Amino acid sequence: METKILTDNQIQEAASILKEGGLVAFPTETVYGLGAMATNESAVKKVYQAKGRPSDNPLIVHIDSINDLTPFVENISSTAQKLMNYFWPGPLTMIFKIKEGTLSKSVTGGLDTCAFRMPDKQMTRELIRLSGPLVGPSANTSGKPSPTTAEHVYHDVHGRIEAILDGGASSVGVESTVVDLSDESQVVILRPGKISRSDLEKVVDVPVVYDKHLVGESEIPKAPGMKYKHYAPDVPVVIVKRPEDFAQAISYYHGKHIALLASQEIINQCGKHVAGAYALSQKRDVEAAANQLFAGLRALDDSKYDVILAEGYSSESGIGTAYMNRLQKSAGKHYFEC
Ligand code: TXA
Ligand code: MG
Repeated sequence: METKILTDNQIQEAASILKEGGLVAFPTETVYGLGAMATNESAVKKVYQAKGRPSDNPLIVHIDSINDLTPFVENISSTAQKLMNYFWPGPLTMIFKIKEGTLSKSVTGGLDTCAFRMPDKQMTRELIRLSGPLVGPSANTSGKPSPTTAEHVYHDVHGRIEAILDGGASSVGVESTVVDLSDESQVVILRPGKISRSDLEKVVDVPVVYDKHLVGESEIPKAPGMKYKHYAPDVPVVIVKRPEDFAQAISYYHGKHIALLASQEIINQCGKHVAGAYALSQKRDVEAAANQLFAGLRALDDSKYDVILAEGYSSESGIGTAYMNRLQKSAGKHYFEC
């Protein structure tokens, strides 16, 4: 199958492909999604095949308006209503109990809940308006870094999907914050993203907590997708905690082909001793680094390198929590410590 690249004047064509049961990858502010009509079970099954994704891992349904929830969700709590009003459209995914039988097992992974999100990307919202709600896991091969450009999607799944709607590079660069609202007494963060715990706390009256697996190593995550190997290039990744430790890390790996994934400042200081580099930001800046993390991991995933030394940030707050969550997974929690 030839995978077509479509642009913003071909949204109608993208919608027709979806309505016929085809797959179209679409841009969002976080990462690209691999789209199929949420109500077409055979199309949804093809999404798992195209990604090579384990079939017990449920999908996010992308909607264009809050009314799109009505067929699927019975009860919207006042907490959920506040979050929607404040953060949608935007990088927040909310998990609701659904009306039995309204979405197939292929969408929900057999759970009695489903994840929903309204993306903040005009062309994609128009696509959803024309086609109806779309499932959209990140459009990468399962286990690899999520795609933040149409080229990344093409690299991973061309020949396996009908089309890619090209909307340029994603502005956030890490996937949405996923929250579970099925227990009304609290908001549980299952996956950290740009919208942080303190952003959520400002809007709701109930406690906002992290899922146990984000706090304790041995806990099983409630979001099934968080338990799989993720974001991992073939080249091993090692996190360098502090900028001043790069020089020592480079001498430790002396004789190896080292690639740096760090701010331009660090590359300027240490770049002549390494085989390659990708700048995550100019000066140290975690928001810019989060935006470029997946693109950088992909760019350096080349057999000419033996190791990628990646810049660490504090995971205490804001988008740093999301950046370090993804980087730790890509590194298998492997740190360089002096
Ligand atoms: O930013 C994003 O969320 C992107 C864009 C394309 O919207 N999508 C995305 O989808 O990252 P995906 O499928 O790669 O990640 C969804 C995560 C997985 O970890 C999955 O296990 C979890 O959400 N999830 C989905 N439905 C769930 C449910 N009902 N209960 C618990 N976790 C759920
Ligand atoms: Mg994913």
